[in-house]
Amino acid sequence: MLPDPAGARPAYRHLAKAISELILDGRVALHVRLPAERELAVALATSRTTVTAVYDLLRESGYAHSRQGAGTWTSLPAGRAPSGVRRLLAAEDTEIDLARAAPGLPERTLTDALARIAPRLAEHAHTPGYHPYGLPELRAAVAERFTRRGLTTVPEQILVTSGAQHALTLLLGLLCRPGDRVMAENPSYPNALEAVRRAGLRTVSVPVTDSGWDVDIVESAFRQAVPRLAFLIPDFHNPTGHLMPESERGRVLRAAQRSGGWLVVDETLAELALDVPAPPPFAARAEPGSGGQVVTVGSMSKTHWAGLRIGWLRAPARLVTELAGQRVATDMGGSVLDQLLALDLLERADELLALRRERLREQRGALAAALTEHVPRWSWQLPPGGLSLWVDLGEPVASALADRVRDDGVRIESGSRFATDPGVFEQRLRIPYTASPDILREAVRRMAAALAAGLTPPSGTRRSHWVA
Ligand SMILES: Cc1ncc(COP(=O)(O)O)c(C=O)c1O
Repeated sequence: MLPDPAGARPAYRHLAKAISELILDGRVALHVRLPAERELAVALATSRTTVTAVYDLLRESGYAHSRQGAGTWTSLPAGRAPSGVRRLLAAEDTEIDLARAAPGLPERTLTDALARIAPRLAEHAHTPGYHPYGLPELRAAVAERFTRRGLTTVPEQILVTSGAQHALTLLLGLLCRPGDRVMAENPSYPNALEAVRRAGLRTVSVPVTDSGWDVDIVESAFRQAVPRLAFLIPDFHNPTGHLMPESERGRVLRAAQRSGGWLVVDETLAELALDVPAPPPFAARAEPGSGGQVVTVGSMSKTHWAGLRIGWLRAPARLVTELAGQRVATDMGGSVLDQLLALDLLERADELLALRRERLREQRGALAAALTEHVPRWSWQLPPGGLSLWVDLGEPVASALADRVRDDGVRIESGSRFATDPGVFEQRLRIPYTASPDILREAVRRMAAALAAGLTPPSGTRRSHWVA
């Protein structure tokens, strides 16, 4: 039977809470049948009366409902189920989702694009449709965008992937062997860190603090650890929002080149410059023939929509060929429909990005104002771009707060999710400003109320499946 962390709580309450948390966490799916009372009593070595009380409580609180003769089924309480367009943006089981820094695509933009691409799609329907390197016209468009941003690129240097995360996973798989060292920022994008761990690689972390990167430390980590690959997010870094200064980029690049390893630069957020000009591609600094060890990873997930699942990498053409060979072992190439949609949106990127930046500035302002009003003790720096604030709570209560506000319909991740090592950044929250001002204000109001009510440490470690 599950231990009761509170000790004194009646067993049925504890069990009902545990099951409701599993439902909220997505670990028990919605709309599935719960075991018959007798079965569950045996499995948990408890009495049938206890299980009856558990199911009664779940029904009363909205986490279950029963159909005559058909058993008891999982559900969500009324206020928690997201509806309409918000459903697109929110986690499936949480009313306000601040765990993922991923904006939605305006409905009209999507439907207009779908109408425009129909004839192009019809032309493709006469072909086999396998494109392991990516749709040729999309590769050309991505290459052209790099060139316009200041890094001359030909389509042969582009591999279209199912998102930036896919690009990184392919690179780790091809360039590294288990046990190799990979340099990553601390904090960093959690799924990238997870990919590094799952590939059996050892993480060498370099700190990103309130004052940004410490290039002396980066240089000495390159010198001493000689990582096989370094993964950096210099443009509006996730989660801190920092932009690596020009002067530091050259030093980092030279240190990487001296060490002889690969430098993978994630530019997923680079075009979300809100207060500064969009930075040119990092790799534009690498002279041709100077080692050629820089690979750039990009994506449409933050600039357009993560639901497209379109990203890319830019690398020497020979490496692109090897990576395409590796990718056919798993997915044979992306969907033609998705790539045509991505191409259409890229063709309108300047116009769409201008709107997106405007919206993000407004949302960032609303979030900052709500924080100032409701939690004046918290501090943060307004990032010059990107999608989130890296908020300092002044005390290590981020997991407790995230745990607590989940009960109030807000999903948010504690700073520790972004750490290369467990146990740090407990005083930090990453708060994305990807939701509407109203939702952001409501989320901050709920967080402030939870804080004012007092926090108890979370019961056990609860990690949600993923963040973005
Ligand atoms: C820095 C960074 N890289 C990659 C990703 C994942 O991108 P994609 O959806 O293209 O796989 C994210 C998403 O949050 C991110 O912040």
